[in-house]
Amino acid sequence: MSVTVRVPAKVNVQLAVGAARPDGYHDLANVFLAVGLYDEVTVTAADGLRVTCAGPDAEQVPLDRTNLAARAALLLAERYGRDADVHLHIAKDIPVAGGMAGGSADGAGALLACDALWGTGASREELLDICAELGSDVPFSLVGGAALGTGRGERLTELEVGGAFHWVFAMASRGLSTPAVFREFDRLGEGREIPEPVASRELLDALAKGDADALAATVSNDLQPAALSLFPELADTLAAGRAAGAPVSLVSGSGPTTAFLARDAEAAEEIAGALRASGTCRMVRTAAGPVPGATIV
Ligand code: C5P
Repeated sequence: MSVTVRVPAKVNVQLAVGAARPDGYHDLANVFLAVGLYDEVTVTAADGLRVTCAGPDAEQVPLDRTNLAARAALLLAERYGRDADVHLHIAKDIPVAGGMAGGSADGAGALLACDALWGTGASREELLDICAELGSDVPFSLVGGAALGTGRGERLTELEVGGAFHWVFAMASRGLSTPAVFREFDRLGEGREIPEPVASRELLDALAKGDADALAATVSNDLQPAALSLFPELADTLAAGRAAGAPVSLVSGSGPTTAFLARDAEAAEEIAGALRASGTCRMVRTAAGPVPGATIV
């Protein structure tokens, strides 16, 4: 018997980052939007724990117990006093180390799939708890839609969204390590007062109205200067998207994927074509959001 779960990628429409905390994490005001690029995690009963992965970036995915999907299976098995005897197969479409929560998606997907396969009867709160233990972005991968994440990003408040937003994503030639980007954020901020992160009222209103122009005027990412500092060529991709008519361009999360908001699906395809022709990125995809979180298919 096997269970397959489909899990979306995310883009951060606001990522406000506070000063480093004593535990090394940063307090965030993190407005997540789930978008229609998906990984699928299939769990099948097996003799021991095994991870396999297929897809364009599959060779970059670790197949050992550092993989968030494996960690999710192990954590759930431990809580329910059983062995994590499963084969986890990841059909990967979300860019690896791209700032779109691909690893988090696999963690949330494996958790939901193992929970269904094993019939643990775990409550939603328990599952969210395990997600938060796996990583700051993992709870959102389970929940999907749109949400404000506070704390280190794991404490979620679901948000109303008044319509679909159309995006273009440009995947870069290499990945960026999230801890390295946060360290660069700290280095760039040395000697400066870092304000408390707060969600923008205007941005939440733009989401609630489904107003792409208003959202374009209010998106922000405090990690963008750090991502650009570590990966300066991203500035060329951002400029190419703006030249193609995107109302706004930004780095997605800790990057290096860049995100471009379009007014509608047709405009998104036009911007995507121009970005492909620009030669400033490895791959270009379009996707709309919000979409639901991890779902059994
Ligand atoms: O929570 P997660 O394991 O996904 O975080 C990966 C790394 O990103 C952390 O080890 C930390 O360096 C950084 N991070 C942070 N503040 C957050 C979330 C992540 O500094 N709120």
